[in-house]
Amino acid sequence: MFAETSLRLSLLLLAVRVADATCSLKISPSRLVVRFGDPASANCSTNMGSEGMGWESPVGGQGITEGVQWLTWRVRKLEKWDIQPMCFLSTDGNQCHEVLILTVYKDLDSIPDLWTNHTGPMVEDGWYHLFCDIESVAPAEDLVVKWYKGDTVVREETFEKILEKSPVNVTSTLVIRPDRDDDGRRYRCEAELRLGEEGPQPPPRVESRPLGITVHYPPSAVTGLEDTHVDVGSTVVLKCSASGNPPPQYRWSYHRAANVEVKEQGGASRLYLNGALGENTGTYICFVQNELGQVSGSARVTVNGAEAACPLELEPSELVVEYGKAVSVTCWARGAHAEISWRVSGRRIPHGTWGSDALRDWDVRPECVGDFEGLDPCTKYLDITVYKKPDAVTIGLVSHSGPVVAGKKYQLQCTVENVAPVQNLTVKWYREEDGATRAMKNETFSDSSRMPTSVSSILELIPSRNDNGCTYWCVAEQAFASMRKDPIETRSDLLSIVVHYAPIIKDSFPTKMPVFRDYAELLFCEAEGNPEPEVIWTFSNKSLGVGNITVTSENVGVYTCTAKNIVATTTKEVHIIFKEDYLPLIAGFVAVIVVVISVIFVFIYSIYYKNTKMGHYSLKNAKPNTQNGNVAQNGQDSGFPMKKLSQQNILA
Ligand SMILES: *[C@@H]1O[C@H](CO)[C@@H](O)[C@H](O)[C@H]1NC(C)=O
Ligand SMILES: *[C@@H]1O[C@H](CO)[C@@H](O)[C@H](O)[C@H]1NC(C)=O
Ligand SMILES: *[C@@H]1O[C@H](CO)[C@@H](O)[C@H](O)[C@H]1NC(C)=O
Ligand SMILES: *[C@@H]1O[C@H](CO)[C@@H](O)[C@H](O)[C@H]1NC(C)=O
Ligand SMILES: *[C@@H]1O[C@H](CO)[C@@H](O)[C@H](O)[C@H]1NC(C)=O
Ligand SMILES: *[C@@H]1O[C@H](CO)[C@@H](O)[C@H](O)[C@H]1NC(C)=O
Ligand SMILES: *[C@@H]1O[C@H](CO)[C@@H](O)[C@H](O)[C@H]1NC(C)=O
Repeated sequence: MFAETSLRLSLLLLAVRVADATCSLKISPSRLVVRFGDPASANCSTNMGSEGMGWESPVGGQGITEGVQWLTWRVRKLEKWDIQPMCFLSTDGNQCHEVLILTVYKDLDSIPDLWTNHTGPMVEDGWYHLFCDIESVAPAEDLVVKWYKGDTVVREETFEKILEKSPVNVTSTLVIRPDRDDDGRRYRCEAELRLGEEGPQPPPRVESRPLGITVHYPPSAVTGLEDTHVDVGSTVVLKCSASGNPPPQYRWSYHRAANVEVKEQGGASRLYLNGALGENTGTYICFVQNELGQVSGSARVTVNGAEAACPLELEPSELVVEYGKAVSVTCWARGAHAEISWRVSGRRIPHGTWGSDALRDWDVRPECVGDFEGLDPCTKYLDITVYKKPDAVTIGLVSHSGPVVAGKKYQLQCTVENVAPVQNLTVKWYREEDGATRAMKNETFSDSSRMPTSVSSILELIPSRNDNGCTYWCVAEQAFASMRKDPIETRSDLLSIVVHYAPIIKDSFPTKMPVFRDYAELLFCEAEGNPEPEVIWTFSNKSLGVGNITVTSENVGVYTCTAKNIVATTTKEVHIIFKEDYLPLIAGFVAVIVVVISVIFVFIYSIYYKNTKMGHYSLKNAKPNTQNGNVAQNGQDSGFPMKKLSQQNILA
């Protein structure tokens, strides 16, 4: 402004000098700064002889005064804003003049009003206007408004454009774009009139009251969250904090467990795991939010030495269902927020219950999937067994039909047709003997197929004759560990075994047998076998017929008993030996002896009796003891008439 004014004056003077180079006026002081209403004066002088001098001014003006070399312009009370007193000089009929540079100012008498047209808190990175109203400023072109942010000048505004000399109201504007660090910052404006050296010292200056601003901003990035590995049982603290204005709210997302506790203190939120458990393994997300935005951070907690838990529960947890029957299973999450769905045969069922009115899928493997807050998604597989009772359970002999032969090897086969699943099947073999049931064998199958299949079990059989007529059967038992009810049993028919066996000749006769003259012996051959054997006696290759035969001393030799059935032929021989019967001879001999002794006795007696009336005699008993000579041997009475046969002879 000074520059401009001086330039103008210089130009004017230049013009004057061009017009009249001889005009030499000096105004002292050349520049005058006067407060409105104050007295003012200036001395205009020349060193040349003049015809007259004067001051041209609305106030304090003086007409041509002759014969002076200086002339004073004086105002007692300067109450004009726009005034330019001019001193002029007349010499040699020419006039020249000089202008007094006069600034009329006014004290800044009211404090600037600092305000903003925004109401409420400011938001980070928004644009805002601050206004500084300065009332009644003169001259406005000398006004400088300084803006302070804290103690730093951020802007200086001048108003040279305002050419109005009288007081005006001036407004300075500051456009700001606050950031989060500006929250609570104080702005102020300062108005100063720069009136130069000639002006009052210090220059008039007023300062506004400070204006504090509030800046709202969204939460900053979350700090303090870190992935953590801990041991089972230890305590974990996850700290989540983020600065924001207004103070943000904290929210955690994690798998809810009983030992988790969240506390907010000092502008941060802390999550405590009191005694870490396996189920605490997972991701913990902290959300920090205020009205301007949300940020989040996460930390993964791994609890060492513990399995990560899948908190899905199935009801029922295990299922055994007959093919074609209805089924229904519910899945839910224990103590956790989860989105639950089922995956069954590639299909997704978006709710917690899976079921079917008639399950017709042998290989169904339903899995419940939980998408958790804070946990990895996990899957729970349904333990489901689809079963089917066998179409038939049959029992029979392998490549054989009809009766079996004792001592040979056979295979009994139990076939279970179309049963599922085979791995839960046991084929049990039973037999009945003497009215009691005996468990023979249990067979299980390792085939893990879930589809219906047919299986068979083999029971080795080497029958003995005692096994004839006994009964076998097998039972297909489907047992499921989880099933509360009894196992499902499917029984085969009864298989009655007919055992053919070789004839056995009963021990009804000895291998050697004597016959006596004129006596007949009855030989009895009996044999047991299946089928019933045909029993015949033969003598000298001649058949003697079936059953009992009679042998006499005329036909001694080897007699053969042959028992024969389809299994085998069994023979047994008996040697019939002729034995002379000495009994009648002995008896006759004894009788003769008795007679002879009797005759001798009578003779002696008669002699003795003639000599003496009394005397002695003796008698020897020669009768043989034959009472036990005819006992049956081998504890059995064959009924043969074997009188007077010594034991020694019989047991040859
Ligand atoms: C004005 O200036 C002249 C010349 O310098 C001087 O003699 C005179 O005393 C001055 N008058 C006043 C009132 O200062
Ligand atoms: C505040 O004033 C400025 C300048 O006049 C204007 O651009 C802005 O829209 C105003 N703001 C409000 C909130 O009135
Ligand atoms: C300046 O502002 C004051 C107060 O608002 C008002 O009274 C006055 O008339 C204004 N002056 C001018 C020149 O606008
Ligand atoms: C077969 O299993 C049953 C129990 O299911 C048992 O009582 C029986 O003794 C077993 N039989 C054999 C031959 O092992
Ligand atoms: C079926 O048998 C298998 C193998 O023995 C067993 O692991 C499974 O638990 C059984 N199924 C049921 C439902 O009991
Ligand atoms: C009986 O017949 C067999 C052959 O069939 C013969 O070897 C044997 O000598 C015969 N025995 C008698 C006593 O004839
Ligand atoms: C053979 O003799 C025995 C014993 O004397 C008798 O029990 C049986 O009935 C007889 N059998 C025949 C076929 O005559």
